[in-house]
Parts: sequence; C-alpha cells; structure tokens
Amino acid sequence: MLNVKSISKQYHKHAILNNISFQIKPGEIVGLIGENGAGKSTLLKIIATLEQASSGDVELFEQGYAKNRKALRKYIGYVPQDIAIWEELTVAENMLFFEKLSFQSKSSEELKQLCLDMNLQKWNEPVKTLSGGMKRKLNLAITLIHEPSILLLDEPTVGIDLKSKKEIGSYLFKQAKEKNRMIIYTSHDMDEITELCDRAICIGEDTFYPEILKNTGKEIISL
Ligand SMILES: Nc1ncnc2c1ncn2[C@@H]1O[C@H](COP(=O)(O)OP(=O)(O)OP(=O)(O)O)[C@@H](O)[C@H]1O
Ligand SMILES: [Mg+2]
Repeated sequence: MLNVKSISKQYHKHAILNNISFQIKPGEIVGLIGENGAGKSTLLKIIATLEQASSGDVELFEQGYAKNRKALRKYIGYVPQDIAIWEELTVAENMLFFEKLSFQSKSSEELKQLCLDMNLQKWNEPVKTLSGGMKRKLNLAITLIHEPSILLLDEPTVGIDLKSKKEIGSYLFKQAKEKNRMIIYTSHDMDEITELCDRAICIGEDTFYPEILKNTGKEIISL
C-alpha cells in the first residue's frame, strides 16, 4: 500500500503541489494526469524518493519516507521523463551494468528476456544507434530488473510506436494484476490512460482532463 499524506511542494516559494493525499493498493494502476507544469513529474520524484516534499510524508508498506528513505528504495522502480542510459554501451552492457547496481541478481538470459518483453530486440547494438522509442523501451526494461513493488512511470511511452505501446501496456497490466504491483503512470494520451488505468488522479487547476474522462466510466480524483 502506498499512502501519500498531505504532500506540498514549493520551489523558491512558488507552490507546485498543494496538500496532495491519496492511497494506492497492490495490483492497482493509477493514471496521473494534468496540464504541462501541473506537478506530475515533481510528485513522481517525491514518491521515488528523489525529491523531498516541503511538507507531508509518503508511506510505503506502512513505513514513512522521512525515516526509511534508503531502505524503501528497493521496492521502487522509476522511469524518468528524460531517458537515463549509457549511450556508448550496448543494450546488453546497459542491462548488465544496471543489474550490478540493482537489489536483485538476474542472468544474462533473464535480462535479455526483459528487453524482449518490451519488444526491444537489439541486444548487441550500441544505445547511441537506437531510435528514441527503443531507448525508452530499454529504460523501462532497466527499471524492471529489481522487480519493484511500485512502478513510477513518467510518460514512459512517448515516441513508442502504437503496436509496442499496446504490448508494453498489456505487459504492465499483467505485472500489476498477476504480481500485485502498484503502478503510477503519467501520460498525455487519454486513450492510453483509459485503456490501462483503474482510476485517474488529476492534479492542477485545469478542469479539462476530468471533463474529458468524465464519460469513460473510470473513477477520477481531482486533487
Ligand atoms: N528543480 C526545479 N526547480 C524549480 N522549479 C521546478 C523544478 N522542477 C520543476 N519545477 C517547476 O515545477 C512545476 C511543475 O513541474 P513538473 O515537471 O512537475 O510538471 P509536469 O506536470 O510533469 O509537466 P509536464 O506535463 O510538462 O511534464 C513547473 O512550473 C516547473 O517549472
Ligand atoms: Mg512531467
């Protein structure tokens, strides 16, 4: 269970997040939506332990971040909005490098399979020769190495072709439903949100997104 408790964040006195609270249960996929600058990435970074909230706390499995920040990292997988991989290394070398840093040991075969699950076949190619979408797939595969209980995905499918998007979506859906993982997913693609997510959390002032999702039958929480 993830429990976000009254999180607020200011940058240089400029309020970004204002008293945000919600809970997520294992097996749930939640879409985080809102206009550019609403604070989605900021909120994901706070849940990923990479930013500190100005006030409030987050609890994962009933342990607060304020006291257990480092210990909780092994449960968390985070795909940043900007791709973070080694350009000069091959896909295989990247996977092996991040496996060494990870909390879970995996064989080369298992790592290769993770890439195939993301529909990424270019195991021996240098990353700098991959397309933008392929790099995103690699970023996703890297995040799954340590089998995180909660996956925080910041626009993970931008630039990914529709077929791969659907395949990755159904893979993530299975991860949540069969392995009881929690997923928070940001996207500006409302079709993707309605197809994949159990409910949507909308942040920011703009009522545009809740309006759009109103007739989809999904639960929408405006915070
Ligand atoms: N490190 C920082 N220092 C100062 N301001 C920041 C910092 N990071 C983000 N911001 C500001 O916080 C606000 C929210 O940014 P954030 O990246 O969380 O938005 P977002 O909802 O993810 O937007 P997008 O849809 O464009 O990705 C923006 O006004 C941004 O300029
Ligand atoms: Mg963002």
